[in-house]
Amino acid sequence: MIKLLTIIGARPQIIKAAALSRAIENKFSDKVKEIIVHTGQHYDDNMSQVFFDELNIPHPNYNLNAGSGSHGKQTALMIEGIEEILLKEKPNCIVLYGDTNSTLAGAVAASKIQVPIIHIEAGLRSFNKSMPEEINRIICDSVSTLLFSPTKAGFENLVKEGFKKKAVPPYSFDNPKIYHCGDVMYDNSLFFSSLIEQKITILQDNKLEEGKFLLVTIHRNNNTDEPIRLNALFRAINKISVENKIKIILPLHPRTAKLLSKNLSSELYSTIKTNELIKIISPVSFLEMIALEKNAFLVMTDSGGVQKEAFFFKKPCIILRSETEWVELVNSGSAVIADANEAEILKAFDKFKKTKRFKFPDLFGNGNAAEFICEEILKNIH
Ligand code: UD1
Ligand code: UDP
Repeated sequence: MIKLLTIIGARPQIIKAAALSRAIENKFSDKVKEIIVHTGQHYDDNMSQVFFDELNIPHPNYNLNAGSGSHGKQTALMIEGIEEILLKEKPNCIVLYGDTNSTLAGAVAASKIQVPIIHIEAGLRSFNKSMPEEINRIICDSVSTLLFSPTKAGFENLVKEGFKKKAVPPYSFDNPKIYHCGDVMYDNSLFFSSLIEQKITILQDNKLEEGKFLLVTIHRNNNTDEPIRLNALFRAINKISVENKIKIILPLHPRTAKLLSKNLSSELYSTIKTNELIKIISPVSFLEMIALEKNAFLVMTDSGGVQKEAFFFKKPCIILRSETEWVELVNSGSAVIADANEAEILKAFDKFKKTKRFKFPDLFGNGNAAEFICEEILKNIH
């Protein structure tokens, strides 16, 4: 039996962890014991608890209650708490997801006391170090022992950075192993999308009809915190809704919700609030999100996860960032980078309105990435 300690903290990590926990419960429960540590980075019920209730994720064994704060303060609290738990639990390895401050804290705490690190979503790069996430993922990859990249581009990034394509076991901090293995979020999207019909009423509740609304999410720090960018995004959203008479639903991250009245001009703020075609709602559950993604005409987002899910559910996507780690989406033609540029967003929308057929090649595995990851952990971590 090996003991694996999983760190979660931010919304997308809680969702990602569901895939591995499900694989452990279904196939490896006699071989793997999972201890879950929630850093408390996200704490509102609709940013955390809702996913445990809905996705059957085991209740965390520990919660560090790190909460919000500056990067340094938030990460430091987490490092201290994770180190203490690692020393007490003595796991065989730590599992880290993605690129948040919770990921970084896990990487720093575990590497200093030589607990092998499994990084899920390794190798992704935006090549933009002004993003806090880019720093977090580079640091985490550099101290990981098993690195699971969901995409070919991610795997190739690691090779370019000097990771060996074919390392020879035993693997360690100084002899890491890299994999291209598919995406645990694809596992989850396939698994949970079959459940939405019976359970979810978000479309009816918001009077949304299939193919007749846009789904928008915005939470990236440069979009929320820079008024020029936030105003440009909301001007574009308003124009698209008015000119096309199309409804837009925005489940708004608390970060954005808190900054909307402060960073939008008062005129635009009141235009948005009184535009009956634009519906701003609180963050929704994962099943509700899948229902929105599956039924939207198009998705506009600065989220990494939502970009991919648009692709999984065969929807075009306007990316509200200046670059993406998920380059395959743009290369396939179904996603366009428009940044927070009003004219580019309107242009992309017009292009997608006219496009009849999109290509959605199989890029993210076969829905069994989590099982593969468990098998490799069992083979290589002792
Ligand atoms: C974090 C991640 C980002 C990820 C996102 C997923 C980092 C550096 N960033 O960004 O990569 O895409 O999570 O959603 O780790 N807040 C609440 N309630 C909550 C959580 C947050 O009100 O439950 C508010 C607080 O005002 C907080 C702000 O949101 O200061 C930002 O939260 P934080 O976790 O620091 O970063 P995110 O923007 O959520
Ligand atoms: N998500 C959700 N409810 C919401 C918004 C997003 O369940 O109201 C899910 C979404 O489906 C995806 C994940 O959260 O699986 C993405 O998280 P987020 O956009 O916060 O972060 P990112 O992926 O950019 O790190």
